[in-house]
Amino acid sequence: MTTAASAAPGARRGALISLEGGEGAGKTTVLAALRERLEARGHRVVGTREPGGTPAGEAIRALLLDPRPCDGGLPLVPNAELLLMFASRVQLVETIVEPALARGDTVLADRFTDASFAYQGGGRGLPTGVIAELERAFVRRLPDFTLLLDLDVQAGLARARSRGAPADRIEQERDDFFERVRGVYRARAAAQPERISVVDAAPPVEAVVRAACAALDGFLDHWGSA
Ligand SMILES: Nc1ncnc2c1ncn2[C@@H]1O[C@H](COP(=O)(O)OP(=O)(O)OP(=O)(O)O)[C@@H](O)[C@H]1O
Ligand SMILES: [Mg+2]
Repeated sequence: MTTAASAAPGARRGALISLEGGEGAGKTTVLAALRERLEARGHRVVGTREPGGTPAGEAIRALLLDPRPCDGGLPLVPNAELLLMFASRVQLVETIVEPALARGDTVLADRFTDASFAYQGGGRGLPTGVIAELERAFVRRLPDFTLLLDLDVQAGLARARSRGAPADRIEQERDDFFERVRGVYRARAAAQPERISVVDAAPPVEAVVRAACAALDGFLDHWGSA
């Protein structure tokens, strides 16, 4: 009999898999297909998103994405944004991610720490060393595999706007902010090719999903069974 605390017979060893990319690149769109692929290959999947993914994290998300000035007309300062991102992430890691991995489940994360290097490091210009220190102190693990959906900034913003929702605080940033975000993501993929796989997110959804699933299969083929 399978219990919540043990992997199902024949189930695969759990992995932490993250999806990254700029605004509107298609992360949430391809997530469902990746989940299906993982389940078909014997993984039990726990999906997460950042910021958020826990009740406390979702409250932090609301604060982070609210476009209204928060302090009598003053914006949220970049260091507060950084620490709130990590507060949300630490809550997620300790209450959801680590318990899931300990059970042998696979975690499919809609953004993880790479996003802080890209947005708070690249976008906001905060020091990479501080972000790396927060990662080392509080997250204490890298994803086993990361898919970077890479897309021209304007194309991504147009897709995000086509969803019809009002722009959130981050989506209201200037184009050069998003160009720096994209630059950091690409630089990290170039520096860590064994972990980060880049998928061109410009083609139609079906083609992006196919490429993402192929990259995921490439990782899973080398990921050991329990
Ligand atoms: N390959 C694609 N071609 C055209 N439209 C797409 C493609 N992928 C996603 N979309 C559409 O673009 C919009 C943004 O996609 P999605 O919400 O998945 O992006 P995201 O990366 O999760 O964005 P965010 O960073 O805001 O969370 C959605 O309306 C989605 O249907
Ligand atoms: Mg999304």
